[in-house]
Order: sequence, then structure tokens, then C-alpha cells
Amino acid sequence: MFLSLDGIDGVGKSTQLQLLVEKLQQLGREVITCREPGSTQLGESIRKILLNDWETPIDVVSEMLLYMASRAQLVQEVIMPALERGQTVIADRYLLASVVYQGCGDRLDTDSIWDVGRVATGGLLPDLTLVLDLPLDEAASRLGEPDRIESRGDAYREALRKEFLSEAENRPQQIQVVDARGTKDEVADRIWSVVEKIVESDAR
Ligand code: TYD
Repeated sequence: MFLSLDGIDGVGKSTQLQLLVEKLQQLGREVITCREPGSTQLGESIRKILLNDWETPIDVVSEMLLYMASRAQLVQEVIMPALERGQTVIADRYLLASVVYQGCGDRLDTDSIWDVGRVATGGLLPDLTLVLDLPLDEAASRLGEPDRIESRGDAYREALRKEFLSEAENRPQQIQVVDARGTKDEVADRIWSVVEKIVESDAR
């Protein structure tokens, strides 16, 4: 089983990912997690360039391809082998993040990004992507020091939120939105009510 979690920065994704891992482990599943960009040697090098290198100019197409390069390596090196071993994979962001974040720039359309993503991932998509959704001001209050992407301002963040919701509407089989307001246990319960159905239908 392969799940991914996504959403704008500050929605509580990392906390919820950890709670979901624990829940699945309690059910006896072997779970591995990965984060994007990163989780391989190449991916972590790319992460440094994309998020923390403020010196190097990066064009939006180059940026998208770097995220994809990190993802291609992750699929080959980590995700596919884990799925073949029968493990459950929970990804902290996946292809949808590129579609939304790079698609909300001014030059790339989301269909092209899905297309490049098909090549990068060899067509491997999660059984389900959960999008945690919060109003911008609530998400902003949870942010720490901004990275390169987070520093792009409120209009961009508002566009990101809308794009996450619209992708979910266009691909309801693939992407589900979870309301991320409330306590972390309330959100975890909402997530579980969605994931439970997939767990039940997953033979592994
Ligand atoms: P994030 O999950 O927020 O990492 P952390 O919690 O460690 O800060 O991801 C880092 C940033 O990368 C985030 O602002 C979104 C951005 N991003 C993209 O723009 N495109 C992508 O394809 C991915 C995976 C992430």
C-alpha cells in the first residue's frame, strides 16, 4: 500500500504522518516513510539546492525537473523495492506537490507536469493522496523560518491552496481532502476514517 500526504506548508503534515505511521504499525504493518525532495543521497543533495541555496538562480522548469529527478531516484531506490517487499509506504509529499507548487508559477501548466511525472515515476502513483487543508492564516501561524519556497508570499500560497482543492475535485479517486482544523487527534481521526477503507481493501 502506498499513501502520500500533501497540502500547503503549515497544515501539520509531518505530525499527522507520524500519527498515521504509528496507527498502521499497531495493526502490524511494516511501514516506511520518505520525504520529498530527499530520502536518497541524490534527493538530499537536490533538496539543499532547491530549498536552502538562495544564491543559485533556478528557472521554474529547472526547478520542476529537479523535484522530478529527486522523485525518480526515490521511486527506484526506495518506494518500489519497499512495495515489492510488501511494506507500506507513506510519502511526505509526492507528484501532486510538483503539480501544485510548480503549476502555480507562471509558466507551467498542470497537465504537462502530470505528464513529466508519469515519466519520472514510471507511472507509480499512490493508492491515495491525502491533502490536508487549512485556511491560510491558520497554516501561516504554524510556520517557522521560511525556506526558499515558503518565502514566496500570500498570493502564491492562496493559489496553492486553491490548486490542491481543484486537483482533488478533478481526481476524486486519487486525491482526498481532509479538513486539518481542530486538535491533532481530531485531524488524525478524520485521516483514519479515509485510510481505513483502503487498509480494508488492501490484501497485504
Ligand atoms: P516540506 O514538505 O514543507 O518540507 P519541510 O516540512 O521539511 O519544510 O517541503 C518543502 C518545500 O518544497 C515545500 O515548500 C513545498 C516544496 N515542494 C515543491 O515546490 N515541489 C515539489 O514537488 C515538492 C515535493 C515540494
